[in-house]
Amino acid sequence: MFRVSDLKKPVLAISPMDGVSDSAFRYITKKYGNPDLIYTEFTHVHGLCVAGDKLLHHFVYDPIERPILAQIYGKEPEYFYHASKIVCAMGFDGLDINMGCPAKTVALSGSGAGLIRTPELAKEIVAACKEGVRDWVSNGELTGLAGRTEEALFQMIDDHIKKHDGFVGERSAGHSNLLAKKENTERKEIPVSLKTRIGYDVPITAQWISTIAEAKPEWIAVHGRTLKQMYTGFADWNELKIAVECTDIPVLVNGDIKTKEDFEKVMNLTGAYGALIGRALEGNPWAFKEMRGETVDKSFETVKKVIIEHTQKFIQDKPDPKAFFQMRKHLSWYISGFDNATEIRIKLMQASNIDDVINVLNQY
Ligand SMILES: Cc1cc2nc3c(=O)[nH]c(=O)nc-3n(C[C@H](O)[C@H](O)[C@H](O)COP(=O)(O)O)c2cc1C
Repeated sequence: MFRVSDLKKPVLAISPMDGVSDSAFRYITKKYGNPDLIYTEFTHVHGLCVAGDKLLHHFVYDPIERPILAQIYGKEPEYFYHASKIVCAMGFDGLDINMGCPAKTVALSGSGAGLIRTPELAKEIVAACKEGVRDWVSNGELTGLAGRTEEALFQMIDDHIKKHDGFVGERSAGHSNLLAKKENTERKEIPVSLKTRIGYDVPITAQWISTIAEAKPEWIAVHGRTLKQMYTGFADWNELKIAVECTDIPVLVNGDIKTKEDFEKVMNLTGAYGALIGRALEGNPWAFKEMRGETVDKSFETVKKVIIEHTQKFIQDKPDPKAFFQMRKHLSWYISGFDNATEIRIKLMQASNIDDVINVLNQY
C-alpha cells in the first residue's frame, strides 16, 4: 500500500481546490513543478453514488499525476463506504476525506469542517472508508451505486484505459477493476487519509487531531485556520506545530505557504512530514521547483507556451465550449505581473477557444 512516508521528506503536494485543481491544472503543475503528491478537487459521496454520471468527471486524471488521491466529502458513513470502492476501482493511489471545507452549503449540513463538531461521526467515516477499501480488495465488488453511476464509471474506466494505455479490453461483468487488471496486479489496498482544520470557532488543535487520529488515517493534512476564519487572516503555523506534536501519524501542513522561505520556515517550525500548497500554484506551476530552490524560466515566452499547453489540455478534458469560462481565471493568473498585464487580461477574458487565446498572446 502506498504511504506518504514512502515519499522523501519534506513532501510537497498540490492541495485540493474545487473549481481550480482540475486534471489540466494538475497535469501542468506536475509537468512543470513535479510535486510529490496530488489531491483531486473534492466530490460528494452521496452524489457519486446516486448520480455519478454528473460528478465522476471530477475524477478524470492523467497517469502522470500519480501518486494521486481522490478527495471525497459528505456526512453519511454508508455513502463513504460505497464511494471508497469507486475510488479504488478508478485506480487512485489513495482516498482522502475532506473534514475542512468551511462553505456554508457543506459545513452547516455537517460535512467538511462541520465534522470537527461531531468527532464520533468523523471517526465512523474513516472506518467506513477503510472497510470499503478492504472489501473491494477482497472481492472487487461495487455496492450501493445507481445504475447510471455504474454505467458512467465503467465508461470512464474504459475511456481511461483506451486513452492512456492503448488497451481495449473486455470488462468483466459486474466488476470495474480493469485498471488493476491492465496492470496485471492484485487489486491494491489504498490508504485512507484526511484533510482538516485546527478547529471550528476557535483552535482546538491538540484535542481534535488526537481524537481523529484514533481512527488511524494513514496521514492527516491540516490547514492552520478554523472553520470560522474561512480564508481570512493568516494560517496559524504555531497551531500546526501542535498538530504535528500531538500524534504519531504523519502530518502535512497547509496554509499561506507561498515561497521557498515560507516552506523552509514552516518545515523548521513544525517538523511536519511535508506541506500542501494551494493558491501559490495559481498561474505558477513552477512554484514547487522554486520552493525546492531550483532555477526556473518564467520569461513571457515560456509562460505563453505553458498557457497554450494548459488551454489545449483543458479543452481535451472538457471539450464542451460552455466549460471554457472555467479556464479564464487561469489565463488571468498566468498573466499577472507582466508588462501590459491589464490589457492582455481584458482580451483573454473574452477568449472562447484556443485560437482566441493564441491570437491574443501573439500580439505581445
Ligand atoms: C478555490 C478554492 C477551492 C478549495 N477547494 C478545496 C477542496 O475541494 N478540498 C479541500 O480540502 N480544500 C479546498 N480548499 C482549501 C485548500 O486546499 C487549502 O487548504 C487552502 O487554500 C489553504 O492553502 P493555501 O494558502 O496554500 O491556498 C480550497 C481552497 C480554495 C481557495
